[in-house]
Amino acid sequence: MRVLNIKDFAKYETYLRDNDTELEKLVETLTINLSYFFRNPETFFFLKDYIFPVLKRKKDNLVFWSAGCAQGEEPYSLAIMAAESRMLDNVKIFGTDIDRRVLDVAHQGLYSDIAFQYTPDDLQKKYFKRVSDGHLIDTRLKERVSFLNVDLFATPPFGPCDLIMCRNVMIYLDRNAQSIILRNFYDHLNADGYLVIGKVELLIGIPEVELFNTVSRVEHVYQRKEMPL
Ligand SMILES: C[S@@+](CC[C@H](N)C(=O)[O-])C[C@H]1O[C@@H](n2cnc3c(N)ncnc32)[C@H](O)[C@@H]1O
Repeated sequence: MRVLNIKDFAKYETYLRDNDTELEKLVETLTINLSYFFRNPETFFFLKDYIFPVLKRKKDNLVFWSAGCAQGEEPYSLAIMAAESRMLDNVKIFGTDIDRRVLDVAHQGLYSDIAFQYTPDDLQKKYFKRVSDGHLIDTRLKERVSFLNVDLFATPPFGPCDLIMCRNVMIYLDRNAQSIILRNFYDHLNADGYLVIGKVELLIGIPEVELFNTVSRVEHVYQRKEMPL
């Protein structure tokens, strides 16, 4: 509104409706796309050591969803952990974001040094190729990850999922919005499916929290309850 010198919300809404490119610009301005590979690495190693073996035993066509995936660092980190667990071919991973700009980067799979500050060296060497302008993700991982422009408040065109990772997204939203999203996740998880939220996120005072059991209080891993209360 400041850029356009529009003083009230109603006028801005009219401008938004009349100008096709403005919504995209608004989304770009409001979203915070900061991410890294292996952000909170201990969470990824917890999944690899304790959750993936359970899922692997259960079935051989698993669906993972990284909701609010930014430039793809999170879904590709899940793919690396799946590869390390020898289950990459059994997993389909979806990365979704509301911001189309970041999804273009994710599709390309090319990253600068800064994205790797939490990545163990051996994994970076194993799964990325050094090219002149950065680090390119291995094509085997790329084939297992699809990126889609999906709003968290809408119904994704895939699922049900065995694991949903949604970290550092809900922290920016109010309780009412968090409730809607948690219910959406519940509806898109298989029975006993897992939900992982951000390490700094606390979903206190939201009734939908009751739809999940706590698996790890430290890593913020939850599991869909069989029956809602
Ligand atoms: C701070 S990044 C977190 C990235 C990654 N999950 C992580 O923890 O490193 C938040 C991402 O959520 C996306 N986002 C925000 N609101 C969204 C919505 N309603 N639907 C889908 N994605 C959304 C933003 O565009 C941004 O890329």
